[in-house]
Amino acid sequence: MLLNPKMPTQPSLREVSERRPVMQQATPPHPQFHRPGQGPSDPSVASASGDIGQLLAPVRAGLQRVEVKMKAVDSAIFAPLASAFLDLIGSGGKRLRPALALMAAEFNGSLQGKPDYEKVIALAASVEMLHTSTLVHDDVIDGALLRRGSPTLNAAWSGGSTVLAGNYMFGSAARFSAETQNIRVIHKFSETIKIIVDGELRQLLDRNNYHQEKDAYYQRIYAKTASLFCAATEGAAILSDLPDPLIAQLRDYGYNFGMAFQIMDDILDFTGDESSLGKPAGSDLRQGTLTLPFFYFLRDHAAPEALIATLEEKFSQAEMGEPQIWQQMVAQLVGEVCASDAIEAARKEAKVFLNYAQASLAPLPDNIYKQSMLGLCDFVVQRTY
Ligand code: IPE
Ligand code: IPE
Ligand code: MG
Ligand code: MG
Repeated sequence: MLLNPKMPTQPSLREVSERRPVMQQATPPHPQFHRPGQGPSDPSVASASGDIGQLLAPVRAGLQRVEVKMKAVDSAIFAPLASAFLDLIGSGGKRLRPALALMAAEFNGSLQGKPDYEKVIALAASVEMLHTSTLVHDDVIDGALLRRGSPTLNAAWSGGSTVLAGNYMFGSAARFSAETQNIRVIHKFSETIKIIVDGELRQLLDRNNYHQEKDAYYQRIYAKTASLFCAATEGAAILSDLPDPLIAQLRDYGYNFGMAFQIMDDILDFTGDESSLGKPAGSDLRQGTLTLPFFYFLRDHAAPEALIATLEEKFSQAEMGEPQIWQQMVAQLVGEVCASDAIEAARKEAKVFLNYAQASLAPLPDNIYKQSMLGLCDFVVQRTY
């Protein structure tokens, strides 16, 4: 057991959550304290390269066990479902969430080689399975036809059938969570599902609302993305029996990493292309989902109200049967956002979150896993997929 943990100097999510309990509300307050410009002064705590293969190497063996666990399919399962399930699991993905769970479990003496390590594997499998099922549902909602470079399930199946396949994966994720036999972890897992669904629904119902507050964005990205990174790192910290202040540090890491991860995903939606992303680009604005680059673009626009009026007008024209009007508007706007300072402003903000993520590891013992967790923060801003 680690004694006398050194707490970081910046306000931590734990301190804020003591004032306002996070888990009792769907979305926690975001920016009261995590505002750009208030981060740790050293912007580059880690110097590790952004090569994901190298960064995940310390948990490679654990990740292989996670793969095997996720791919074990009940022989009684309906054959088309089994085939879809295996395709989805086998379609790859960066496996960042299970990797972070495996790394976060390495700060109180290792459980590797002990019977309890199976619980860490189960947690890692549960977060990746939950992640995959949310992607399946997300692609139905967005009508997306490409994911991880392959056709989505909804490209072949009806929306209803695809949702059911996603539900099966939810069930599988819940089963893995139960295998941790840790009621705190199971509780966190079920709360996380509620938070993700809440976030996805907020996003859906706030589409094309150009007058929404920027804070709604932070709430959404916490809910749909950062909450699951929290479940991965905090869950692993709980399973490894760390003292509560260190569990909170690892939760902070997951929170800040996840926020930055989604901001970068939202930037890539503007700047990336389908072939490198393996999923459609430019789709956020097309769907009317407002993300950080757009908020900065609007903030610095000479006539934001006129821009909003144009967007609303073009959108209603498209709805009345002229979809190409919207496509043209979005293509032009994506170009303008990319040419503006908005992308860099958003990237800077992602870096602030990553600085917090790196700083939150300071009280934890140094080891190769910590080095990878620091280096993964660099990967997040460098990634192109
Ligand atoms: C995609 O997550 C969804 C977001 C939260 C942005 P990843 O980029 O981790 O997806 P995979 O698992 O690597 O495909
Ligand atoms: C997805 O966020 C988050 C969840 C699936 C919960 P995005 O909608 O930005 O993810 P991509 O861009 O489709 O991967
Ligand atoms: Mg999406
Ligand atoms: Mg996206």
